Amino acid sequence: MLCKKLRPAILPLLVLLLTLCCAPAYGFDTAADDHLLILVNSAHRLDAAYQPDNLQDIADRAPSKKGSMKLAAPAAEAYVQMIDAYRAEHRQAVYSISGYRDYAYQKRLFLSKLNHRQQAGQSYNTAYRNTLLYTAQPGTSEHQTGLAIDLSTNAALSNNFRNTVQGKWLLANCWDYGFVLRYDENKTRETAIAYEPWHYRYVGLPHSLIMRENDWVLEEYISTLQQQGMVEFADPADDDVLWQIYWTDDTLQEFDGVQSVSSDNAGGYIITTKTSRISSILTAWAREAVSVGFLQPRTAA
Ligand code: DAL
Ligand code: ZN
Repeated sequence: MLCKKLRPAILPLLVLLLTLCCAPAYGFDTAADDHLLILVNSAHRLDAAYQPDNLQDIADRAPSKKGSMKLAAPAAEAYVQMIDAYRAEHRQAVYSISGYRDYAYQKRLFLSKLNHRQQAGQSYNTAYRNTLLYTAQPGTSEHQTGLAIDLSTNAALSNNFRNTVQGKWLLANCWDYGFVLRYDENKTRETAIAYEPWHYRYVGLPHSLIMRENDWVLEEYISTLQQQGMVEFADPADDDVLWQIYWTDDTLQEFDGVQSVSSDNAGGYIITTKTSRISSILTAWAREAVSVGFLQPRTAA
């Protein structure tokens, strides 16, 4: 009886279901957020509970001064590859000193550095200001993302790292592995952090290459993307590949050729797209040809 009553509704229901299932998906996949371009600084904080869900220990794959050295998976893989490439050329070891740090650890670190400066005779205000230059307050350290790593030739962090074989090689080659020198000596105004030749940050390719080419730190890269909406980059390894990096705060916006999506911790998403230059040129040419009447658009017979 009930079945008979429902029968007339089945067809429209099926049509509705099919329409919903086959409807084109609008926007990009925010669930694919890989966080690789996340900006973390005093103006762009992380929750105390923020923790990457893909931490990997690299202490047994690359020299480290700690028994455990955790990084987010993409950074871990790229770091091991980079250090393998370094070791193929040089014998002097590069040691990792610090990778992922949670909020509580960063808090202890900040307070201990502050205390140390006060013990050395600095007033609270001076000690606080000086500590801020080198040690981020809890919730403002990119070590909490698992994408940053501190490196040394021994157990200490020192400005002299820049003059060592290890420091020079890393500065010249890190970009090819998706890493950037995060706290450049010429960018202390932009980062609000003192020069740290030991602190490397993973942003992934092609972003590290784009940042090197334009001499941008992450603050500058993200603000340029926000202002311009898009940055274009010709792939140095493949003439046909054009990268277009978009910034948007509209999750319904659609993009072609999406390679990755990252939230920026500054109100938007960075969408990395890759296109073939030849096919873009041909498409533009065909559109132009249609518009001036050279080609007839295909119409149904
Ligand atoms: N040394 C950097 C700024 C940090 O504490 O995250
Ligand atoms: Zn660091």
